[in-house]
Amino acid sequence: MERVKILFVCLGNICRSPLAEAVFKHKIKGSTLEKMVEADSCGTSNYHIGDPPDNRTIANALRNGVSITHLGRQLCVNDFDQFDYILAMDHSNHRNILKLATIDHHTQKVMLMRDFDPKGKGLEVPDPYYGGEQGFQEVFDILDRSMDQFVKHLEERYLPQPKV
Ligand code: 4NP
Repeated sequence: MERVKILFVCLGNICRSPLAEAVFKHKIKGSTLEKMVEADSCGTSNYHIGDPPDNRTIANALRNGVSITHLGRQLCVNDFDQFDYILAMDHSNHRNILKLATIDHHTQKVMLMRDFDPKGKGLEVPDPYYGGEQGFQEVFDILDRSMDQFVKHLEERYLPQPKV
């Protein structure tokens, strides 16, 4: 089977989406799902192409037991063919992603990350860039619980389910 490809998207690709990618990879490490998926992240802007994640994101992730390796890149039209899930961190990025999607098959791949948050379906992963440590921890907590549900969704969809 072709691998299932997941793309996490924010504005700069230095705070939220590289953390989402890292949290996702951390959660599936060593699992059956790990062999079946690929994950990447990008930004809708060109502000941080080639840049490592923000130091505050790296430090916060490490405090929470997650390491991040990523270099910033911008979303491109080819991503709509390459990826199966395109998960936007907020409404503004969701809108801007959809502006680049030209066919239904591509549009259907675009969702909000917090569609998987049991505590906040449809809400945004807030931009922590201009705030303090509390904002980075809030982003981590939101991504942590949203990713649990997203992983469960992928397992139910792609792994054989036990018969009851
Ligand atoms: P991100 O955060 O979209 O979560 O990576 C931001 C990073 C950089 C900027 C804005 C948001 N910026 O304006 O440079």
